[in-house]
Amino acid sequence: MGWSVAAVLVTLAACTIQEAPRSDTVVATRTGARSNAPAWSADTWQPPVVDSTPDDPFEASVYRGLAIMTHVRDSLPSYTGSNLNCTSCHLEEGRRGNAAPLVGAYVRYPKYNERAAAVIPIEDRVNYCLTRSLSGSKLPPDSREMQDIVAYLAFISRGVPAGESVRNEGLAKMPDLHGDSTRGRTLFTANCARCHGNNGDGMGAFPSLWGQHSFSIAASMARQERAASFIRNNMPFDRPGTLTDQQAFDIAAYIVSMPRPDLPLKELDWPNGGAPTDVPYDTKNHKAFQPPPRLIPRTNDPAAAIVGAPASVGRSR
Ligand code: HEC
Ligand code: HEC
Repeated sequence: MGWSVAAVLVTLAACTIQEAPRSDTVVATRTGARSNAPAWSADTWQPPVVDSTPDDPFEASVYRGLAIMTHVRDSLPSYTGSNLNCTSCHLEEGRRGNAAPLVGAYVRYPKYNERAAAVIPIEDRVNYCLTRSLSGSKLPPDSREMQDIVAYLAFISRGVPAGESVRNEGLAKMPDLHGDSTRGRTLFTANCARCHGNNGDGMGAFPSLWGQHSFSIAASMARQERAASFIRNNMPFDRPGTLTDQQAFDIAAYIVSMPRPDLPLKELDWPNGGAPTDVPYDTKNHKAFQPPPRLIPRTNDPAAAIVGAPASVGRSR
């Protein structure tokens, strides 16, 4: 081990050519020529608006990307088994805070993903949602549809400097509570069933919460705390914020206790250990947290649901 690290360092040093900066080298500086430009601020930044009458190829791609994300099943019928769209969870076209906003996400990739224990490109992150949150099949990274989605993601991050954060990123962290699925069932009937259906399968434009057409066991939304956070801040759709933290946990406990599509090789998630406590399946050094009594086998090609970590093509010694 020790010698190989040293060998790599020697190689790196040998390859590093120290060049004097050229006069046209682009250097970011706070005191340089551009110091009159206002500093970037998460409080004032607004994501750009998508032009619905695109007049160049990039705008057309952005527009197609948004259309795919709001109509996944119509656009890519053989790529999803669910009745969800990307925007079923990434609300307001990915612009709403505390609903896993996608504005600003593009500038954080490539990024280390703990579940995969790998640095991944944004295409892989999209495929994680496609295979897990939409219980579907991965898109070829070099397909036009994937590049349209990425074009949309890049566009709505315009103006955010690389590595910066926008407001209300992700799903807000919840207090350390535990849901009761029996209470959750009653609350579900009173607050959610009118749109999502008593059997949780959704209705028309209202997406499924469990069953064959919903997100899979390996989606973040299948974790009690993540689901509670989404529900607490965003549901009921027409009255968000009316549930207490405990009620959100109770309903989340009920929803995630129901059968939903499986994901092959989910036990290989978090290969270095360290899975969050509410992950509902076994992984390394982690016992499944309240797993649903039954999982639904996938109808699509299981191999198409597996997004591997980027593999090295370098010479193996
Ligand atoms: C069932 C809900 C759900 C659906 C449907 C869904 N996602 Fe996600 N997505 C999430 C959650 C939850 C996260 C993680 C947010 C967090 O914890 O920061 C996430 C994360 C992401 C990220 C990474 C964001 C970041 O800040 O790093 C991207 C990109 C993304 N989703 C794209 C998509 C696309 C494209 C689709 C449709 C093909 C989609 N998602 C469908 C729930 C969903
Ligand atoms: C007025 C109708 C309505 C009510 C009531 C409602 N929802 Fe939703 N829900 C929606 C819509 C619509 C979406 C998708 C958003 C979109 O497509 O813009 C959604 C999305 C969701 C999602 C993410 C997508 C998915 O299918 O997993 C979850 C989880 C969710 N709702 C849970 C709940 C819970 C729990 C309740 C009760 C506390 C509830 N909803 C009440 C309309 C509703």
